Amino acid sequence: MCGITGYIGRNEAAEVILEGLHALEYRGYDSAGIAAFENGGISVLKSVGKVAALEEKLAAHGNFAGAHCGIGHTRWATHGAPSDINSHPHGNERIQIVHNGIIENYAPLRAMLIEKGYDFVSETDTEVAAKLIDLRYGESGDPLDALAAAMREIVGSYAIGVLFADYPDKLFAIKKDNPLIVGVGEGENFIASDIAAVLRHTKNYYQLGDLEMAVISASSVQIMDIDKRPLHPELQTATWSIEAAERGGYPHFMIKEINEEPSAVEKTLHPRIAGMLPDFSGEKLSDERLRSAKSVTFVACGTAMHAGLVGKAAIESLCRVPVKVEIASEFRYNNPILTPDDLVIIISQSGETADSLAALRLAKSLGAYTLGIVNVIGSTIAREADNVIYTWAGPEISVASTKAYTVQISLIYLLTIRMALLRGNISEAEARAYTETLYREMPEIIRKTIATEADIKAAALKFADYEDLFFIGRGVDYYLSMEGSLKLKEISYIHSEAYAAGELKHGTISLITEQMPVVALATDEALYEKMISNIREVKARGAKVLLVTREGAKDAAAEAECVLYIPPCDPFFAAIPLATVLQLFAYHVAAARGCDIDKPRNLAKSVTVE
Ligand code: AGP
Repeated sequence: MCGITGYIGRNEAAEVILEGLHALEYRGYDSAGIAAFENGGISVLKSVGKVAALEEKLAAHGNFAGAHCGIGHTRWATHGAPSDINSHPHGNERIQIVHNGIIENYAPLRAMLIEKGYDFVSETDTEVAAKLIDLRYGESGDPLDALAAAMREIVGSYAIGVLFADYPDKLFAIKKDNPLIVGVGEGENFIASDIAAVLRHTKNYYQLGDLEMAVISASSVQIMDIDKRPLHPELQTATWSIEAAERGGYPHFMIKEINEEPSAVEKTLHPRIAGMLPDFSGEKLSDERLRSAKSVTFVACGTAMHAGLVGKAAIESLCRVPVKVEIASEFRYNNPILTPDDLVIIISQSGETADSLAALRLAKSLGAYTLGIVNVIGSTIAREADNVIYTWAGPEISVASTKAYTVQISLIYLLTIRMALLRGNISEAEARAYTETLYREMPEIIRKTIATEADIKAAALKFADYEDLFFIGRGVDYYLSMEGSLKLKEISYIHSEAYAAGELKHGTISLITEQMPVVALATDEALYEKMISNIREVKARGAKVLLVTREGAKDAAAEAECVLYIPPCDPFFAAIPLATVLQLFAYHVAAARGCDIDKPRNLAKSVTVE
């Protein structure tokens, strides 16, 4: 996903902008660029490849010395291959822009602009937006009228930073469906896709809303709506220190974030517990909603969707309410059946995933009550859902989601206990016991699981050379096998597949050979014997087996070449330590394969395009 940053103030713009682009690299990108006011005009430099390549070009150009206002961009290609010419900024001598998002109606706009005499040098939709703004600026002579006109004509999602050559002491920004913040400093101001880009300079920021514009000088920030009416949003303060967003001494963000899981779970649960019972009054989440919901639908993507699967198992087990789990990119086109009696829970770490946002909007349009479980404060999903419960997991920088997932399922467990108590499925004493276990014991269980990292790493090294691998499980273990498979795929590039263990014999077992190892998840005591049968089936066909089970599981060591154990814990919450085992397993396999663990190829931290 693209990253935007911009600066205006007393310091060297290029220096501040490059620093911001480095801080945004984790988002995944393939090229970078910068524009700044220099020698009475706008100078532009851009380069395919890493930010370091742009830095070299800049150094050769004198680093835009003396420039105090500019914009920068890291591009994750959507329209047009990664190349110098397709990199941002885009525009002409009068205007330059950087853009995150998609202009859906770029083709008709491009045709109209060509008729008006414009030519195009790139394959990007962004260049169309730049020249549309230029056209409207030429007609109105006013930058705000030009930006407002463009927002009325553009269909799609965008966060755009703008330089107008006629206004060398100003930065402009517009936004719809893609995050953009305005960082507020002392005698200097910033724009950025997220606060991480400017944290070294300020923790104070405004979150730009949809169809809003910002006019920023070194000493002032004006925010207005599309009709130029002034707005006065609340100034937010990032709770994340720079260190929190840095690696903190770990080799990768991913392993740092796994190690943060116990404290992240504690921080997230603590404010939602009173008298050792779940209490969501802080979120003004009405008891009636939880008590009367006729159904629950989790909608999310990737790992967040897998958290929904754990939620399904928990809610159906404790509350006996039907739960669906929908992949957001499917849900939004499947004409879902929802009524105002349905509770739709959108899970999203970033709060900006395009498919999940679209699903949220669809669910709301169908009258369902929507609840967001989101990690980024003030993100679009958080703001648009009828209500939101934040996962206080702190910044999750690694593309592979780990602590966010663990916190999501922990929070969903707490919500489940609340729901079961309100619906009379469990007594207050039982609810207190569940809550006590979840809050007091599970963070310690995660710590104990992390303490077995050396065993997990030893197991990982035995599987790191395979190119294909199966995860199998039953019930919640099957849901965790999906998450384990995704984690392994996205960072180690091993092709792996999650399969319901009981389903293997209906065809897929034909793939099991000595070259196809199997990770068998068997933490559910009630299904353990069934899983042992499945393990014997695949071993009989030559598969090397890693068994992940409970301490004390019968004859485990005799049943598989390699065995890992989760610490003793309440089976209702076994998904929590099992997730940590699978995250560490994937991490060490990827490390053994020398992969780029925090920034895997082709991936972005938040997929804000369809
Ligand atoms: C998880 O490791 C992946 N990076 C990806 O599947 C992610 O969970 C998915 O894109 C959803 O992101 P979100 O939680 O920010 O909405």
